[in-house]
Amino acid sequence: MQFLILGSAAGGGLPQWNCLCENCRLAYRRDGRLTARTQCSVAVSADGENWVVLSATPDLRQQIISNPELHPKCAPRHSPIKAVFAPNGDIDNIAGLLVMREMQPFALFATRSVMAHTEGGVFGVLNADLVQRRPIALDESVDTGLGFTITAFATPGKIPLYMESRNEAEIELGAEGESTVGLEIRDGDRRFYYIPSCARMTDALRKRLEGAEILFFDGTTFEDDEMIRQGLSPKTAWRMGHMAMNGERGSVRTLADVDIGQRIFVHINNSNPALRHDSAERRQVEAAGWRIGHDGLRIDTAEARS
Ligand code: MLT
Ligand code: MN
Ligand code: ZN
Repeated sequence: MQFLILGSAAGGGLPQWNCLCENCRLAYRRDGRLTARTQCSVAVSADGENWVVLSATPDLRQQIISNPELHPKCAPRHSPIKAVFAPNGDIDNIAGLLVMREMQPFALFATRSVMAHTEGGVFGVLNADLVQRRPIALDESVDTGLGFTITAFATPGKIPLYMESRNEAEIELGAEGESTVGLEIRDGDRRFYYIPSCARMTDALRKRLEGAEILFFDGTTFEDDEMIRQGLSPKTAWRMGHMAMNGERGSVRTLADVDIGQRIFVHINNSNPALRHDSAERRQVEAAGWRIGHDGLRIDTAEARS
């Protein structure tokens, strides 16, 4: 199996258009202490020729141009992207569909509730004769027809930001349903996971991840309240439907005893100090066995095993 990180940042990217936090400042200056990042997406392929894109971000056009695997291979019209899987309805997971409007066939997989966000309005631009919408049920294994299956399973999360009630008390945080899912990619007995949004660790998720070959996991913040502390937003990671890396309930600690081949953070918010190569936070997560995902990171499991 081949995995290609198209984008490793959370919504907004690094740098973010309206942000001058410490990391965005360095990224605008092209300072070597960190590298710029597009919004979170991973492409997966069994044969290196046909790819499924997990999360269609607003940066998709740039991501395709930056990665030769996804360039058209034959004239006049072609794309190696055969399918898109949207694990939630946030802008950074579906807006990229608008980049794929130029009359190219592909399949769109999403749960029914996420699919509903991609129907109507501007999304009507996707030609229904070419774009095959395939609503999927939770825990239903879908054969992509490309040599691997994908199964969506609920992870604690919330509805998309733009669907939230203005009444804070009405917003259900940590809800487990169709709104936010993790994706299990299976090739025979081998399992790989893409989980860009997870508000908290659960015993069920820990059990599921046991024995995974690769985990791409929600690395939104280092500390739950870092956006508040940096004066960027009044929201904690939990309030945004995400998990912090650090702390008693953070991903590093709660997954420490789970047997996982490679653990890689993606969906990393621009506020996260672990993005800086020279930070103590970076050293800490790497010492715990995690990698900080970056755009263009490629993993070929055949090479890894030989
Ligand atoms: C998130 O992960 O919290 C979302 O990307 C928010 C958004 O859609 O901007
Ligand atoms: Mn996001
Ligand atoms: Zn920033």
